[in-house]
Amino acid sequence: MKSELIDKFGRKHNYLRISLTDKCNFNCTYCNPNNHMSYSVKKSNLLTYEEILRMMHLFADNHGFNKFRFTGGEPFARKGLMDFFKNVKFLKDKFGFKTGITTNGSLLKGNCSGLFSAGIDNLNISLDSLNMENFNKITGKNYFQYVISAIDEAIEAGYTNIKINCVVIKNSNDNELVDFVNFAIAKNLNVRFIEYMPFGNNDWQNNGFVSYNEMFNFISNHFKLIPAKNNNNNVAKDFLIEGHNGVISFISSISQHFCGSCNRLRVSSDGKIRVCLFTNGNSELNIKEMFRDGYSDNDISDELIKLLNEKWEKHPGVTELRALKENNMFKIGG
Ligand code: 5AD
Ligand code: SF4
Repeated sequence: MKSELIDKFGRKHNYLRISLTDKCNFNCTYCNPNNHMSYSVKKSNLLTYEEILRMMHLFADNHGFNKFRFTGGEPFARKGLMDFFKNVKFLKDKFGFKTGITTNGSLLKGNCSGLFSAGIDNLNISLDSLNMENFNKITGKNYFQYVISAIDEAIEAGYTNIKINCVVIKNSNDNELVDFVNFAIAKNLNVRFIEYMPFGNNDWQNNGFVSYNEMFNFISNHFKLIPAKNNNNNVAKDFLIEGHNGVISFISSISQHFCGSCNRLRVSSDGKIRVCLFTNGNSELNIKEMFRDGYSDNDISDELIKLLNEKWEKHPGVTELRALKENNMFKIGG
């Protein structure tokens, strides 16, 4: 290994989140309401699958990265994904890293056992409502039944660690918290309640924010939540449900940020490496251009080390976050 990627606050980085496309077949109110922001990455500007494999090799070999997650947009909106995962498996067998996907689940059906045999370790599936009408309202699309059956298919395929991502929004789905706990119990999986984050294009200002404390107190009226052992880099606070299967987690990005233990970098589908979800365009490294300009892996590694030096200690407050107009979840993949 060339060097560990440790920033000036002592945070060691070993996890890369890779956005495969900025396209998505949903229009979630909290992410891309009414196609408000258009997708902008042209095919020729996408990192190719070969380039992504080279990038993963670079991070694993030069910097000891041990975890990669594929995000979007919606990863399954990109063609050729399952073949790509077969190639990821070769790298995975060589380096022993973990892999995961974050998906809206709508295009997952029929692929779960393929994913399992390709060695994709973790599936995070977004599901913001257990009520079909409400699901349609939040996502703008009529895919509820597809997502539910994809979850069942994933369980059948052998996944025992499925995470369901639920962004909690006041007057939208905050009346479903108990239903979601019951869902976690019934399916024996991990439901993660995520605090609603402001982005330049979403409706954060019009809808209510629900804090981790509010969610926790509400659920505690119905279930006893017992803190589970968390590993340090885990962004979620995990709880067991007394007397039941399943795990409930809270991701408190806004009310109690977890920047102090951040171990992650991100790359957009057009190949820009970012040190934070909320960084303004300035501190990015365009790895795609470096690849295409013929830079060696070691040259790129030197630039990465410089980039990491610019990582701030924690993300700014909500006012500043909302002002970052070009910051969109579907571009950077959560
Ligand atoms: N706030 C919180 N989480 C968000 N996501 C997207 N937009 C937001 C937001 N504004 C997360 C959700 C979704 C994943 C793809 O990205 O968890 O499931
Ligand atoms: Fe698509 Fe996910 Fe954004 Fe919803 S949250 S619009 S599913 S990328």
